[in-house]
Amino acid sequence: MSAEKSSIEGVGPLSTTASLVVILGTGGTIAGTAANAADNVGYQAAQLGVDHLVQAVPALASHRLEMQQVAQLDSKDMDIATWQRLAQAVAAHLARPEVAGIVITHGTDTLEETAYFLQRVLAPSKPVVLTCAMRPATALQADGPQNLLDAVVLAQDARASGVLVMAAGRVHAAEQVQKAHSYRIDAFRSRDDAICGVMEEGVLREWGAWPRGVAVGLDRIAKPADQWPQVQIVLNHVGADGLLVEALVGLGCAGLVVAGTGNGTLSERLTQALLQAQAQGVRVLRCSRCDAGPVIGGDDSGLPSAGTLSAVKARVELMLQLLA
Ligand code: SIN
Repeated sequence: MSAEKSSIEGVGPLSTTASLVVILGTGGTIAGTAANAADNVGYQAAQLGVDHLVQAVPALASHRLEMQQVAQLDSKDMDIATWQRLAQAVAAHLARPEVAGIVITHGTDTLEETAYFLQRVLAPSKPVVLTCAMRPATALQADGPQNLLDAVVLAQDARASGVLVMAAGRVHAAEQVQKAHSYRIDAFRSRDDAICGVMEEGVLREWGAWPRGVAVGLDRIAKPADQWPQVQIVLNHVGADGLLVEALVGLGCAGLVVAGTGNGTLSERLTQALLQAQAQGVRVLRCSRCDAGPVIGGDDSGLPSAGTLSAVKARVELMLQLLA
């Protein structure tokens, strides 16, 4: 992995001083290659540098860009140390007055977790746009180049703000976005269809609200990665009992997210095990295993709800709360 910077200076489409976009590479399928162009699954992710991805899109030559390789990994292996480096790089570039916005190239698999993490840590007023691909760069139907172009255009749009995801023509907010299909090119959805907008031929059409919120800040995430609180996810299902919860508490877990059925409901045995864990000082957050919709209503079970967050985002939230 190299942390080198490079830049392409061109005539930006905006006349404002803040038209520079910094593209941070982290790997993923967008940077992946396969020996056979017709092979959409047997490829290696994270092979091409971010400079290479930019050079493959001729339309980007007219934009003011700067590139930095922050990591080069398959996002299933994304880790806290890389998140820390990424958040620091994003914050440093956002502080530069000439920067209009940031683009992050990322694998699709954990992109929604990174997006939510960055939104909660930085809550940026400039756009920070994560983008990705479902097909490697060498594929017959590579989707990375269009997504990257759309992401740069979005990062330069003065109407956009917050941490966003640009994929297959849709603009998603960090809190709502989730990977909803394992194979299709159009793989991302926003929970409850709450997308921010669409990108059509380089023109943003706004639909919904941009992400807002209060940043927890970089100081909150400064602790070395191996000292972060352990937070695990458990699931309610037919026959769910308390065995896993008891084992995780025994192993020293500081927090547990439970993905409940429907409106965050849990079997009696799982409820009792989680209440017992809470009584022992373990923090619990309860969400729904459904693909959309909040956990509605009071916390009658005694186990606090994560609102509209999915299980993986509730886990990020709980880690950030435990770091406070
Ligand atoms: C990854 O998440 O890095 C690999 C899968 C993908 O980008 O689609």
